[in-house]
Amino acid sequence: MNQSILWHPFTQHGLGVAEIPVVRAEGAYLYTADGRAILDAISSWWVTTHGHCHPRIVKAVRDAAARLDQVIFAGLTHDLAQEMAERFLRLLAPRLPGLRHIFLSDSGSTAVEAALKMAIGYHAHSGTGRNRIIALEGGYHGDTFGAMSASARDAFTKHYEPYLFPVTHVDPFDVNMLEVTLKARDAAALIVEPLVQGAGGMRMYAPENLAAMAALCKRYGALLIADEVMTGWGRTGTLFACEQAGVQPDILCTSKGLTGGFIGMGATLATEEVYRAFYGTDRSTMFFHSSSFTGNPLACAAAAANMAIWEEESVLERIRAVSECHAAAAPRLSMQEKIYNIRQCGTILALDIGTEGGYLSALAPRLRAEFIKRDVLFRSLGNTVYVLPPYCTTAADLERCYAAITDVAHIVAA
Ligand SMILES: Cc1ncc(COP(=O)(O)O)c(C=O)c1O
Repeated sequence: MNQSILWHPFTQHGLGVAEIPVVRAEGAYLYTADGRAILDAISSWWVTTHGHCHPRIVKAVRDAAARLDQVIFAGLTHDLAQEMAERFLRLLAPRLPGLRHIFLSDSGSTAVEAALKMAIGYHAHSGTGRNRIIALEGGYHGDTFGAMSASARDAFTKHYEPYLFPVTHVDPFDVNMLEVTLKARDAAALIVEPLVQGAGGMRMYAPENLAAMAALCKRYGALLIADEVMTGWGRTGTLFACEQAGVQPDILCTSKGLTGGFIGMGATLATEEVYRAFYGTDRSTMFFHSSSFTGNPLACAAAAANMAIWEEESVLERIRAVSECHAAAAPRLSMQEKIYNIRQCGTILALDIGTEGGYLSALAPRLRAEFIKRDVLFRSLGNTVYVLPPYCTTAADLERCYAAITDVAHIVAA
């Protein structure tokens, strides 16, 4: 029996695979207690954008920690939150100008919970009577109950299904199916992962589909919630994926890269119209949502520093460099025998190794073990392997990723 007192996430401790102790992180690398340097090809669950321990974010958090640890965010505020919010709206102004209000929380899942409650609350306060939530088949929005309800019904949610609220799932590749559902005019909102469905297997769909779904929501009076927890902060080639479809969501969820991946934080952004539905002198229509650490100063300092990096450094050029390496490697990888379905969206390159799919595919632990032997951190989704690196990753390090994939594909999918 593995007696780990720490119960790790998405981990079957009974398999006896020891966790790797990491003592330091810098740039694209994780340094282990036994002296290895592991290339973080998945940005540590998609969070690290510029690189680990970016000096500007480290300094901002250090400075904040020395003067303001935590303060209740109801009735009180602070300059770090204010600075972060102003910088955020400045970044959004040329891209998604409709988003005007920022509600803070702790993670991607909490950003989604807040979004769902905002959408339902909006319709309740507006008196439309709409309460149905529509989501995409194959989606993933987090592990809290509201987020699980909106997610696909799969291995992640199997045992919890009786406790999930009903959601209508539609196929992102079949926009007509959405229109049929929306025609009932009872939908409060459609929630989507724009362009890339991450945990569902890095499934990618065209900006035209996203634009068509957004137009249908507008036509039939449903709000559009863009869950950009994974796709935000440059992953798909633009600050937010919605930009590529010319789509202005009513509500947007972000986390992960919001702090450059430095510390947990979530944000749910809303249009003036959504905010107004809660606004007034009646206390019963305020947004009944919070968590103890909402607006934590250290998280706000990290987020503000991340935004300063976006404003002042050539982040999009680094993103372009990574995307171009992927684009050059894709044809080479697709020539390999055991590699299928190569797909790319910005800095995300995904492919399938062999044909044994599904999250619980026996291939997944074997793939992980082979990659880690080569000092490259990959965590496949079933047989789907993806390269989703920090933007500081060099062309030479990306080549190491592609070479490891080629090598491992031949060994594992023999
Ligand atoms: C699209 C999407 N939404 C929500 C979440 C949940 O975020 P968190 O793990 O921070 O709760 C994730 C996490 O991977 C995600 O990819």
